[in-house]
Amino acid sequence: MKQVFVAGSGSGIGESLLRKLDSREDVFVNGISRRGEFFSGDNKIEKGKNYRCDLKSEKEIDLFVDFYLGKIKILDALYLCAGDGLFKPISGISGSDWDDHFLLNVKSNFLLLKAFYPVLKNSEAPFVCFISSTAAKKGFPDSSAYCASKHAVTGLAKALREEWKPDRIRVFTIFLGAVSTDIWNDRPEFDRKDMIEVGALSQYLESFLFLDKSINIEESYLLPLKGVL
Ligand SMILES: NC(=O)c1ccc[n+]([C@@H]2O[C@H](COP(=O)([O-])OP(=O)(O)OC[C@H]3O[C@@H](n4cnc5c(N)ncnc54)[C@H](OP(=O)(O)O)[C@@H]3O)[C@@H](O)[C@H]2O)c1
Repeated sequence: MKQVFVAGSGSGIGESLLRKLDSREDVFVNGISRRGEFFSGDNKIEKGKNYRCDLKSEKEIDLFVDFYLGKIKILDALYLCAGDGLFKPISGISGSDWDDHFLLNVKSNFLLLKAFYPVLKNSEAPFVCFISSTAAKKGFPDSSAYCASKHAVTGLAKALREEWKPDRIRVFTIFLGAVSTDIWNDRPEFDRKDMIEVGALSQYLESFLFLDKSINIEESYLLPLKGVL
């Protein structure tokens, strides 16, 4: 049985992946997001459950980590799917908008990786999968905060790729073009029909669990047929 964790499993890519993995008998998967279920210390962890945690709150992350890591000893795979968009010209972004965006898109990943490191190390063939973006490769107008946060997370991934080699923890970075999820809801100028279908993406992400442990996906860059929209 593979033990898997999906951060950001309330909607979109993370939710689709959680559901796909939960349909397998050989995978025990959990996730977290704001719309997840509340937990208490006495609860046993339940297969397929999305637990409640606001990843912008270090206190909530600490509480969740205490609960969850009290119950598992090994983690085979950690998928980092939480994130939000901040799409405005730079003049319309306040300092607090910027900080708030970085709390989720950058700092929460750092806190989760630090917390899960001891249990990842205990797996036979562990990996972490960063869900990154074309915005970590290129610049786009009205996307200064988003491009900056996605480039920052890529730096974190590159560093851990080197730092965790001695522990055999593989670090995969998946750069995505447009995927049809609610992150696009406020951007009607982009047609959802031109985007990658979320179920097809989660099928691809699922397949990583069955790669040979000698393989590290340094960078995978997935675009819709139409290319960068
Ligand atoms: N869709 C695309 O075209 C695309 C392309 C490239 C990269 N990406 C990246 O893929 C990741 C997932 O995006 P998506 O398209 O699946 O969008 P989405 O449907 O908006 O998913 C965002 C996820 O993050 C969770 N989340 C948001 N704020 C949170 C918070 N404060 N605490 C905990 N969880 C929080 C959401 O769950 P709750 O609402 O329940 O909290 C949800 O599970 C993001 O990092 C995004 O930048 C997406």
